[in-house]
Amino acid sequence: MTKHWVAAAILTASIITGAPAHAQDFPARPITMIVPFAVGGPADITGRIVADIFTRHLGQRVIVENINGAGGTIGAQRAARAPADGYTIFFGHTGTNALAPAFYPDIAYDPQKDFEPIGLTAEYPEVLVVRKEFPAKTLSEFVAYAKANPNKLNVGHAGVGSVSYIGCLLLNSAMGIKPALIPFTGTAPVLNAMLVGEIDYECDPVLGNLAQVRAGTVRALAIASKKRSPMMPDVPTSHEQGLPEFDFAVNYAAFAPVGTPKPIIEKYVAALNKGLSEEGVQKRFAELGAEIAEPDRRGPKPLADLMRSEAARLLPILNAAAGK
Ligand code: MLT
Repeated sequence: MTKHWVAAAILTASIITGAPAHAQDFPARPITMIVPFAVGGPADITGRIVADIFTRHLGQRVIVENINGAGGTIGAQRAARAPADGYTIFFGHTGTNALAPAFYPDIAYDPQKDFEPIGLTAEYPEVLVVRKEFPAKTLSEFVAYAKANPNKLNVGHAGVGSVSYIGCLLLNSAMGIKPALIPFTGTAPVLNAMLVGEIDYECDPVLGNLAQVRAGTVRALAIASKKRSPMMPDVPTSHEQGLPEFDFAVNYAAFAPVGTPKPIIEKYVAALNKGLSEEGVQKRFAELGAEIAEPDRRGPKPLADLMRSEAARLLPILNAAAGK
């Protein structure tokens, strides 16, 4: 059944009954939330917290389906084409819903036109992490080593257009180097490869490697922000260390396929708002190093505005960094 057919059926039923069909009873069965990256990484961890919020506040199970590949664009494409009946939603980020399409000329979805925004959930700064034995202890030592040995370096990322790819693109272009970029289905497998020494460095939202940084099995050299992360207070920022071009925060957010009835979107918005206001959820996000979306940044409009403004702000920089 196509999305357009479902939308037409819903519209017809609404006209006959005078009420949006399905919306009152929604949700009457379990919901699928597509997370477009590997299990155990930042998108998955954050997405599962959000799936739990929806499960509790909508009264139906929200099942996470990890559909990986191509920097999250395969999962995004699948979600964009799903029936717009509220039973499939998407958990995306600044990559999938603002920046990634710029890297794929033939991409089959439009991040702005093919999704209904539900709301922003949490924002994390990125951090530069190196393998334990990497011969640099500070960002300036890292830059000196990387410039002298660009051909020896392997950078891990979650696919072209993912936020780990974009963060290190900003870093590498600020250093003027083009090391080998090795794609994975998410940054959880990148981290595993770094633990066995196959990957030299990655750029990932702080929650992705918090446990390993604390355990000392990898080292964090710079927070890509003006502000230190309370979860890694000893790690200086890129700005403090003289590399302000490496500045990137990742916003994770929920979306539905375009055409999803407004009353259903409103149920999601209300459920997310309740969840983000809960003390337990706020504590969990704080422990992961996230800034939770404050009330004035919640809901569809702030999310749509943010994705548009991030695209406008970063695409020229990324195109220049990619040599376009
Ligand atoms: C992940 O969740 O695996 C990554 O953070 C995704 C990404 O780098 O965009």
